[in-house]
Parts: sequence; C-alpha cells; structure tokens
Amino acid sequence: MPANYQFPHRDLLGIEGLSERDISGILDLAESYIALNRKQDKKQNLLSGRTLINLFFESSTRTRTSFELAGLRLGADVINMQVSGSAIEKGETLLDTAATLNAMHPDFITVRHPESGAVMLLSQKVNCPVINAGDGSHEHPTQALLDALTIRTKGRKFKGLKVAICGDIKHSRVARSNIYLLTTMGADVRVIAPPTLMPPYIEKLGVTAYTDMRKGIEDVDVIMMLRLQLERMSASYLPSIREYFRLYGLNPEKLQLAKEDALIMHPGPINRGVEIGSEVADDIQRSVILDQVELGVAVRQAVLALLG
Ligand code: NCD
Repeated sequence: MPANYQFPHRDLLGIEGLSERDISGILDLAESYIALNRKQDKKQNLLSGRTLINLFFESSTRTRTSFELAGLRLGADVINMQVSGSAIEKGETLLDTAATLNAMHPDFITVRHPESGAVMLLSQKVNCPVINAGDGSHEHPTQALLDALTIRTKGRKFKGLKVAICGDIKHSRVARSNIYLLTTMGADVRVIAPPTLMPPYIEKLGVTAYTDMRKGIEDVDVIMMLRLQLERMSASYLPSIREYFRLYGLNPEKLQLAKEDALIMHPGPINRGVEIGSEVADDIQRSVILDQVELGVAVRQAVLALLG
C-alpha cells in the first residue's frame, strides 16, 4: 500500500480534474487488493461500521455488483437501492431522495443516473463522499480507472501508449472518462466513430478523431470497443446494425491492423455481432474483458478506502 498518498477530494465525480498523481495513487492502492481478492478469505475490517448505499437509477451488472463486493470485502454494511420499488416511482425528486438517504447517515453513496450532472447535484445535498457510477453520457470514473489498472497489470506503460477507443463516442461516458485519464497519463489517444456518433469538439480533449476504423486502429497497442448506447439515442444515427458491424465492428481482419500483441478491451455488456465479433471477444490471447471485470472490484475497494 502506498505509504502516504491522500486523495485530495471528498467525492469522486469524474476523472476530469484529477492529476497524474491522483490516478497513480488510486491504481497503486488498487493493485494491492488484487491478490487479496484471489484469496479464500477476502474480508478486511477497514470500513467496519460504515454504511455504503448504492443508488442505481439505471440498470447495471458489473458496476453495482463490484461496488457491493468492494464494500463488503472491506467490512462495510452495503445497501442496494433499486429505483423500481422505491419512492422514486411515486414521484419523489432526486434531491428529496438525496435528503432522505442523507438523514440516515450513510458514509458513502454511489450513484448511477441517466442524466449527465445528476450525480454532482446529488453530491451537493449530502454530507458523505459520493462516487459517480456513471451519469448519462458524462463520466464513469471507476470504469476508466479499472481499464487503466488492466492496462498496467498487462505490463504496458501509459507514456506514448497508442490507444484506440472505438464506437459510440458521442453517448459514451466510458469514452470521456478514459480520454481524460489516458491523456493525463501521457498516452496517445485516438477515437474512432461514424461521423454521426463523433462529437464535433472531441479533438479539443487532446485526441485524434478517425471515421475510418481501418486507419484508426493501425499500429495501436490497445483497442477499447464500446457498446452503442441505444438508450441515449434520440434519433436514428445508423443505417443498420449490419452496416455498422461491417464498418466499425472489431473482427479478426481489422484486428490484424493493430500491433500483434494489442489488448482488446470492452467495458461490457458486449453485443456480439454489433460492435465486436465472438472470435475476437473470446480470444484468450488478447481479450482482457474478464480481467477488466476482475480488477473492477480492486479499483472500487481502493476508491472506498481513499474516500473513507
Ligand atoms: C458501461 C456503462 O454503464 O456506462 N458499462 C459498465 O459500467 N461496465 C458501458 C455500457 O453500458 O455500454
């Protein structure tokens, strides 16, 4: 465990604004939890007596489960609040929900919400640290951190690392958090998307934009594939799924253009045959999709430990 690193913020609302030292500090601590999570006895008492509330206004498998496991393994009591079955369905506003939960003295709240900015708003109404578990198309900081930890544990260095992020850049909070993190750490980041899913301002974030996937993945060290965020699309952005897979899906033929040992990443859930083919997703030599899931728990333990 890194001796004297202290996280300088109360909340983790995004990667934007974190320094290289903050990111490395979280990753160093997360690394120390990896071996612990592989042991039979995974329990520690660092957060014993504390309460973590997971408040999820959108569906989730990996993120919610891993926050829950992270809290439990550090000894905290964990409550999972699903919107269905809560008073939110009876018309309670986000801020009234925040005030209600705050009155019960939680020690941490993780929030996933379909609106960008909603998590920050909620954080201003409660007295405990708030962790953004994904807000609309804005940020998903723990996803970018676990992606970075995966890259690091595979022995890759961030400085000069060529990373291509490919897919629905416009609606992806995973893309945005990864862009902030990877550019802060000195990587060379490219984004690949159809013109309709490429935000016009994107190069201002320090990345290079490609609409031709074959050019974009040439010689890269890491390929991050993204799911089409159909739930955030208000219009028709694509001619057809078949056409999308032909032009932007990762298959063995396009993969050949990347470096021979390029890592294949995906935050999940994957849609086979839409953004990624099964031959590639299940390639045990190069796909690190399940490593990402494993390391997600370690990253969330580190974040809870640093904010606690
Ligand atoms: C991502 C999300 O929810 O933003 N999933 C995740 O947290 N692992 C990506 C997605 O839903 O496509």
